[in-house]
This record gives sequence, structure tokens and C-alpha cells, in this order.
Amino acid sequence: MMESDIDRILLRHEQIHRRVAELGAEIAKDYGEAEAGLTLLPILSGAMIFVADLIRELPLKMKIALTQISTYPGHATEPSEPRTVMELVGDLRGRHVIIVDDILDSGRTLRRVQEMARRHEPASQRTCVLLRKTAKAPPDIAADYVGFDIDDLFVVGYGLDFGDHYRNYPHIGVLRPEIMP
Ligand code: IMP
Ligand code: MG
Repeated sequence: MMESDIDRILLRHEQIHRRVAELGAEIAKDYGEAEAGLTLLPILSGAMIFVADLIRELPLKMKIALTQISTYPGHATEPSEPRTVMELVGDLRGRHVIIVDDILDSGRTLRRVQEMARRHEPASQRTCVLLRKTAKAPPDIAADYVGFDIDDLFVVGYGLDFGDHYRNYPHIGVLRPEIMP
């Protein structure tokens, strides 16, 4: 059972949902008057649950582009060099782009995507993450919208995985130590 692999819950779904609604309101306020349209660029696969909830809090005409990066291959809990699985689906040129990721950890994934997005000459570019591991995030990789600052723990659920499992767990939690290597 998935549930029994979780040691403790860090953030309950209701709390996540309230914060996602706040982030949506903030983004709607910032981009409501923008002439060039808004495009959200979620980094798959981790951002898929977050972005699905976030866009339903945005009462704006907007588009979605996609990219996929793999940072923790297989059962790794220590990041390796990010691998671009799928570069870009969608057109960023002249758009107001918000890159969306589940978590800002070492910053290598976001650095890769921020550089890639810039090459497509968007009208503007910002970054939104649900979680930020404050201890590790380098100062030059900035996130403009942050859901929660968390301790340096490996977490799963709400899109975040371990070995591609637990993405469907509705809360964000920490695995029992014997599950992780
Ligand atoms: P970074 O490149 O080290 O900042 O790592 C960011 C990426 O690694 C995110 O897109 C996540 O998919 C993944 N990641 C980082 N920390 C965790 C974690 O605690 N649990 C699950 N995935 C994580
Ligand atoms: Mg990811």
C-alpha cells in the first residue's frame, strides 16, 4: 500500500490547495493587464499535478507549453546532471512565460530550463515553484513565486516522486527510512 510507505505528512492537501489558490490570485493580479499573453511552462513530470491545480485558479486567457527534464534517474535521491527528455512543446516567442516546477532544490533543473526558455525570446520570463529547499537553492536561481519553503528533506506526493511512484499521493510527505536507500 502506498499510504503505509509514508512516514509523516509535511503538507496536507487542503493546505497545499489554499496556497495554490493564493499563488493563482497573485499571478492573476500580476498578469491580468498584460498585453502579450501568458504561457505557463511546467517542467514534467513533477510539476503536472501542481500546474493542473494552478491553472484552474487563473481566470486569464492563457496557454500551456511543455518541457521534460529528468534530474533524479530511477531511485536516486541525490540529483545528477539534469537530462532534457523533451526540449519544448509550444511557442514562447513574445509571450509572458512562467516556468513552473514542483520543487527548487539544487537549482540545476531550473537553470537548464531558464536558459532554454530565454533562447526562445519571450516578452518576459518568471519562475514559480511549489516548494523551495531554502538550504540548497543558489541565490542566482531565483523563483518569483514560491508556495512553501521546506527543510532539506526528500519528499513525495502531489506530483513529486521516488522511483516514479507516489506522484498520486494527495499530500506531501516523507517516506519511511527503510524505503529509501
Ligand atoms: P534541482 O535541479 O536539484 O533543483 O531539482 C529539481 C528537480 O528534482 C525537481 O524538478 C524535482 O522533480 C526533483 N526533486 C528535487 N527534490 C525532490 C524531492 O525532495 N522529492 C522528489 N523530487 C525532487
Ligand atoms: Mg522535476
